[in-house]
Amino acid sequence: MVRMQKYLAETGLCSRRAAKDLMRQGRVTVDGLPMEEVCGLFDPEVSTVAVDGQILGKPQKPVHYLFHKPAGYLTTMDDPQGRPTVKEFLDRLPVRVFPVGRLDMDVSGLLILTNDGDLATRLMHPSYLVPRIYRAQVEGYPTEAELERLRTGKLVISGKPAAPALATMLRGGPDHGWLELTLTEGRRHQVKLMCSGIGHPVKRLKRVAYCDLWLPEDLAPGRTRRLSTRAANRLRAQVGLGPLEG
Ligand code: URA
Repeated sequence: MVRMQKYLAETGLCSRRAAKDLMRQGRVTVDGLPMEEVCGLFDPEVSTVAVDGQILGKPQKPVHYLFHKPAGYLTTMDDPQGRPTVKEFLDRLPVRVFPVGRLDMDVSGLLILTNDGDLATRLMHPSYLVPRIYRAQVEGYPTEAELERLRTGKLVISGKPAAPALATMLRGGPDHGWLELTLTEGRRHQVKLMCSGIGHPVKRLKRVAYCDLWLPEDLAPGRTRRLSTRAANRLRAQVGLGPLEG
C-alpha cells in the first residue's frame, strides 16, 4: 500500500503539497471513486488512479532538472485565465516533472524540476533552512542601516517577521541598486515585500541559486539541464536524504 500524495508526486504530476489539495477538491479518484482523505492509502498494483478523469501513468525513476525560468510565465501547470505557464517547457521533457516551489510571473531564474517527492518536500519545507539566493534591482540605493533591517529577522511582512536574510549591495547608480539576498524561507512575494518594507521596491528580480545549485551562466532562459545522479544525490544529502537506488 502507498500514500496517494507520494504516488502522485512520483508520477511527476505535482508536489505532495499540491497533491493534498487535489485530493481535498475531490479531483483524485481510485477505481472511479473520489479519494478525499489526505492520508489515504491504496494499492497501485490493483487500483487505477485518475485525476480530473485522466488515468495516470506509473511512477517513474526520480529525475532532476535545472530550469531557467524566463520572466512572463506563471509557475503553474494550468491557468484559468489562459496566461503563459511553465507547462510549455515541462511538456518538452521526456519524463513528467513538477517545479519545486514557485517564482512570480515577472521573476526569472532557477527552478528545480523533479518527480522526486521526498526531495521536493524537504527543499520547500522551512524547517530545512534551504538557502535561496536572489539578485534584485531595486528603486533607489539602500543604505547599510536599511540592509541591516533585512538581516535582523524583525522586518514584518504579511503580518509575520521575515527570517533573517543575508543582504549585500552588488552595485548601483543614482536611481537604482543591485542587491543580493539569501533567504531561508520561501513565502509568497517574499523578496518584493522585504525590499518594499525597507522603502526600495523591486524593479527586477532573478533567482540565481537554490540550495547548493547555481543557475549555470550558459543556461539560456527557457532551457533545462538534467542533473547527474551524483549531483542529485549531493542535493538529497543537503536535506538529509540518502542516495537514490541504482
Ligand atoms: N520573492 C518574490 O518576491 N518573488 C518570487 O518569485 C520569489 C521570491
